[in-house]
Amino acid sequence: MCRAMLLLIVVSLFSLAAEALDNGLALKPTMGWLHWERFLCNTDCDMDPDNCISERLYMQMADVMVKEGWKEAGYEYVCIDDCWPSHQRDAQGRLQADPKRFPGGIKKLADYVHSKGLKLGIYSDVGDKTCAGYPASRGYYEIDAQTFADWGVDLLKFDGCNMNWTLLGSGYIEMSKALNKTGRSILYSCEWPLYEWPYRQPNYTAIRETCNHWRNFGDVYDSWSSIKSILEWTASHQDIIVSSAGPGGWNDPDMLLIGNFGLSHTQQESQMALWAIMAAPLLMSNDLRDICPRSKELLQNQRIIDINQDPLGKQGFLTAKVDSFEVWERPLSKNRLAIALLNKQELGGPRGFAIRAVPGWKICNPQCNVTQILPQYKEMGVHNPQSKLVVSVNPSGTALLTVTPVTSAFKRLHRLEMAVKPRHTIL
Ligand code: GLA
Repeated sequence: MCRAMLLLIVVSLFSLAAEALDNGLALKPTMGWLHWERFLCNTDCDMDPDNCISERLYMQMADVMVKEGWKEAGYEYVCIDDCWPSHQRDAQGRLQADPKRFPGGIKKLADYVHSKGLKLGIYSDVGDKTCAGYPASRGYYEIDAQTFADWGVDLLKFDGCNMNWTLLGSGYIEMSKALNKTGRSILYSCEWPLYEWPYRQPNYTAIRETCNHWRNFGDVYDSWSSIKSILEWTASHQDIIVSSAGPGGWNDPDMLLIGNFGLSHTQQESQMALWAIMAAPLLMSNDLRDICPRSKELLQNQRIIDINQDPLGKQGFLTAKVDSFEVWERPLSKNRLAIALLNKQELGGPRGFAIRAVPGWKICNPQCNVTQILPQYKEMGVHNPQSKLVVSVNPSGTALLTVTPVTSAFKRLHRLEMAVKPRHTIL
């Protein structure tokens, strides 16, 4: 066999191995809102009608998402988490929503959400019961997939509680096939690796072929230590997980907590910056009806969202640890680079970081253009490998920057533009 043919076979084998779930969804990280971290399993609508898990909550979020610029910023999915169903299936064995809290039923809720130009997500579990003890899908994969499709659901978060770990893979794959069989486009959000890690290293090739995103690590909660533990886990497993992310399938470090109670504004900026670098789904769990303007502005910051949604679809990773700073880098389309500088020293005031210590700074040879996006937008001008540029970062804060190489072709074009300009003015 000729060498070129052999090469072709090897290359196609490799691209096959990295194939994403072929449902045409999640070509960019999913954006939306998910109830869990903020609203948990609050089912007491008599005591707490505004915050209990009920159709009203999702309808109100959908209203706000349209009115307050969330939809326009890209947040599209309104997602139900655990605790929505009735404790009994119906006479045909189908899941049904709790009739008191969802009097209209899920189909009507989906219609409402769709009428706003948004999409609806729902939740179930691969095992016998959900994590909060509600009926789950084991033994009912096809029925449940069809029920969700009939209701017009657009996303399924599929949890992994109450399941023998040796059956996790087959269960997740079966549900993926069942969803596909319905013919409806339903984005499939898994927790398969999270539940398999305690026993063995999950097979990320199979996971990418099965799911549109997947949780790897424990639940996020409303504190900086939770965000740090997610980043630490991600960095210490990056050799295994980063290459599995790309258009169609993403690692999911869990919800954004921006706008809640446990993170300072500086720490909220760190979460937003690092979730953009990690190409993470941006699923907010907060109360959009009552969110402070600074958190809203941060979540809707289009420059950060653009990094998250970059069409190259490569996940960034930790590239250096220098003097209690972590450097995270993400390759972007058009040869650009996003850099996050996280100040891990939770003591004292803002500290300076000399940017030429960033490993990817080599793209600044001969020159590059630097833009700071966080903590505030600043065009930092043209730099070179010897640049003395120092960026100041708050304790537990992150500076987020983009770097664009200035190629000689670009410089030539720029010179040409400059030369052409005066003539335009005369005309
Ligand atoms: C698990 C998941 C969470 C949430 C809860 C609901 O803990 O990881 O994201 O869905 O179950 O019970």
